[in-house]
Amino acid sequence: MHIDITMKTRSTIRECGVQIWGASLYLSDWILSKLSQFQDAVVMELGAGVGLPGVVVARVCRRVFLTDYEDKSLRNCLRNVMLNDKRGVCSVRKLDWSDEFPIKKDEVKQQSEFDWTEKELMELKSCNYLLAADVIYSNELTTSFLNKVVQILSICREDAKLIMTIEKRYNFTLPELCTTCREYDFFFSHVQVEGAGREETCIGSAKTFLLRGKKLGSDFEKRLKEYDRSDEMELWELIRIPT
Ligand SMILES: C[S@@+](CC[C@H](N)C(=O)[O-])C[C@H]1O[C@@H](n2cnc3c(N)ncnc32)[C@H](O)[C@@H]1O
Repeated sequence: MHIDITMKTRSTIRECGVQIWGASLYLSDWILSKLSQFQDAVVMELGAGVGLPGVVVARVCRRVFLTDYEDKSLRNCLRNVMLNDKRGVCSVRKLDWSDEFPIKKDEVKQQSEFDWTEKELMELKSCNYLLAADVIYSNELTTSFLNKVVQILSICREDAKLIMTIEKRYNFTLPELCTTCREYDFFFSHVQVEGAGREETCIGSAKTFLLRGKKLGSDFEKRLKEYDRSDEMELWELIRIPT
């Protein structure tokens, strides 16, 4: 498979989506190893950045929505879609985890090329997979990401899954007085983990689990070279716990 991607090699936090991150390469490698599983699926990528996983999965999917919130990232993602989406199944759309989504019918507007149409919002009802790579890295964002994932999964197919890769980044934090990966711990405190997927953390478990799932192994071929498969790189399959 040949794919062309345009990106920058450096970025600011606000525009980090114009750069490609290792977790996105890891997720793309996993997708390549499971391509037949995505045949005819409807997929939505969250915080897509340059959009590599979405563009890869688009080779076999029925429909792919690549979403992000930041203008430069959205424009670069669209460029990558135009370079690679020969089947015409991709749409690049604005989705900010802090905003209301799905948008109500009477609030749908076509002012920008990244706005959703009513038809597309209907298509999400048959969504099989959400994809996300390296989106757990800031305290404020993690809460809105978690809530948005739960909300979106509730409008997708009942068996829809979130496939997510994370690169854990550790810091010594004063409130916990230990070395933590705060945002990761917070996110997974809301996840009911099947099997031995998560070590005990300073944060512990939340009273209400919102997602359930398991950590997937890394025993698949490494086709993309430019990233490390360290212990800090994790791949998760998660579903919504019905309320
Ligand atoms: C570290 S980058 C990862 C980009 C890409 N997934 C990758 O792994 O190469 C985080 C991504 O999350 C997006 N993001 C950050 N805050 C967001 C928000 N509030 N709503 C939607 N996307 C957001 C950024 O624009 C960026 O594309």
